Amino acid sequence: MTMNEPQSPAILAAAVAAPAAVRHVRLLRWVRDIAALTKPDRIEWSDGSGEEYDRLCDAMVAAGTLIRLDAVKRPHSFLARSDPSDVARVEDRTFICSEREEDAGPTNNWVEPGEMRRTLDGLFDGSMRGRTMYVVPFSMGPLGSPIAHIGVEITDSPYVVVNMKLMTRMGSAVWDVLGEDGTFVPCVHSVGAPLAPGAKDAVWPCDAKNKYIVHFPERREIWSYGSGYGGNALLGKKCLALRIASVMGRDQGWLAEHMLILGVTSPEGEKRYVAAAFPSACGKTNFAMMIPPPEFGGWRVTTIGDDIAWIKPSADGQFRAINPEAGYFGVAPGTSYESNPNAMETLRENVIFTNVALTDDGDVWWEGMTRTPPAHLVDWQGNSWTPGCGRPAAHPNARFTVAAIQCPSLDPEWDNPDGVPISAFVFGARRSDTVPLVSQARSWEEGVYKAATMGSETTAAATGKVGEVRRDPFAMLPFCGYHIGDYFDHWLRMGSRVSRPPEIFAVNWFRKAADGGFAWPGFGQNMRVLKWMVERCAGRAEAVETAIGFVPRYDDLDWSGLEFELERFVEVMRIDSAQWARELGSHDTLFDRLGDKRPGVLMDERARLEGLIAM
Ligand code: GTP
Ligand code: SPV
Ligand code: MN
Repeated sequence: MTMNEPQSPAILAAAVAAPAAVRHVRLLRWVRDIAALTKPDRIEWSDGSGEEYDRLCDAMVAAGTLIRLDAVKRPHSFLARSDPSDVARVEDRTFICSEREEDAGPTNNWVEPGEMRRTLDGLFDGSMRGRTMYVVPFSMGPLGSPIAHIGVEITDSPYVVVNMKLMTRMGSAVWDVLGEDGTFVPCVHSVGAPLAPGAKDAVWPCDAKNKYIVHFPERREIWSYGSGYGGNALLGKKCLALRIASVMGRDQGWLAEHMLILGVTSPEGEKRYVAAAFPSACGKTNFAMMIPPPEFGGWRVTTIGDDIAWIKPSADGQFRAINPEAGYFGVAPGTSYESNPNAMETLRENVIFTNVALTDDGDVWWEGMTRTPPAHLVDWQGNSWTPGCGRPAAHPNARFTVAAIQCPSLDPEWDNPDGVPISAFVFGARRSDTVPLVSQARSWEEGVYKAATMGSETTAAATGKVGEVRRDPFAMLPFCGYHIGDYFDHWLRMGSRVSRPPEIFAVNWFRKAADGGFAWPGFGQNMRVLKWMVERCAGRAEAVETAIGFVPRYDDLDWSGLEFELERFVEVMRIDSAQWARELGSHDTLFDRLGDKRPGVLMDERARLEGLIAM
């Protein structure tokens, strides 16, 4: 069959068993062609209903893919255990197949699009044999909003379907928005495990050896093969809302960022919104749901999003941001009533947990959830576990999937199709040394330099060596769908698209003290830094200028209710010129890779910074 053969919508719709609401001929042809390629046993069109969700979950319980948790302790919730080969994003198997190699840039894997299409044709040929192919329509952003974008994911994984229901606005209503010829991003996903007739399915089918996460930026197309996990498989998230959307943003003059969005309201009722980029597993969910210490009575933090922001210059001269997602796919380990009570409340019911431990009474547990672990657990791989056995009970990248509407700190504006105005951008990373608790850029250009040169110790969210410092510009290294040098340039130019650009701050919650522990208490205590930042935006808080920008003095932060001595403050704020000279050297290893796409403005910033540090 070819893409262009004439065929009436009715015949096409019947051929792929489409519901009457689907009147989009191009989409129907695409579904037919993907079915012809992947050869599933049947096609199911997701309606996004609760009934469908329950039916798929029941079937996955029967198949052993999901374990139903205790109906009283964790109502309507499930545990999934993935294959040990399929526990995180696979950055080395992620490809940006732009027409020209230079448009993917030095930080992305590139394969010539024609060659990649031939590879994918081979991989997807018959890849859904023995399985159901689901057609999943979803909106990133409020349904019908002018800033939202529609995607349709074809997948052979029911786990993906139910996760998409929690993470996006998914279901039949999307067909009405799409109409007969609306624009959508086609997303094709297969776990890459065809089933022979009569063969028993794996609990977590995937291709343990071969994975491909592929983006065609000009065609705005996504193909994912071999993994059922998170950002590899829930294609609305990193693939559409970051990699493809970043390219749309470059072309159309907006920003798609790996950022949380929070609202912060002062006791006087002054409300500001802050967007913050931290690399994976570096505290976005915690910061977005933060509860201020009791002494900050009257201050309130509300949540718009915890992972992705789409930010557009608006007619009123400000940046306005929306969270394109509708749920959280958050890191479980470390989440507790001490570190993130709002997350714990969000997780009371209707949750899909992946790779956490199972308690003997049918509930979940992970490292850091309680101070004392239960006496016995079943670990994330299904093995018996006792404290001190030498293995973690939950995988370090174990996650929860839950709808945003369950979050007690959800901001009333979270669903506003016009977004919220952004007062400040915050860039944070995981650094044991060098980078102080907080600093403020003196200009938009200096802020872009800070963000572009961010380095962070790697975490379990991507496979690879954990704890190594790598440059992670804007926390977007694995998520920018085009040349990172062009991306820096885009950010530099966006600063003049609004009447007064937001203030830019850099933070580091992860500096280590001499004893090896974190020097800063973090979590709710981050409110002290947040308060200083928003008051800087309002022109109220004091600061001093250093080589790397404005910083608070001890007395500029509000210490009420916390004993944090001056010496410890000096330690978390230290700007050591020898360390910074080395830091600038490591910035060069990034800039050297950019070739002629190295923005001159950033090189000027670097020269200025070098002079200031040497003073
Ligand atoms: P992705 O979902 O992977 O993009 O990451 P995220 O940035 O949302 O990650 P999350 O908020 O779930 O970060 C989890 C990790 O950060 C856990 O190990 C937490 O203990 C740690 N963390 C979060 N906030 C703080 C903090 O203020 N201080 C310290 N020391 N650790 C923190
Ligand atoms: C991240 O790794 O930044 C995540 C989790 O937010 S995943 O969706 O798996 O990419
Ligand atoms: Mn993320």
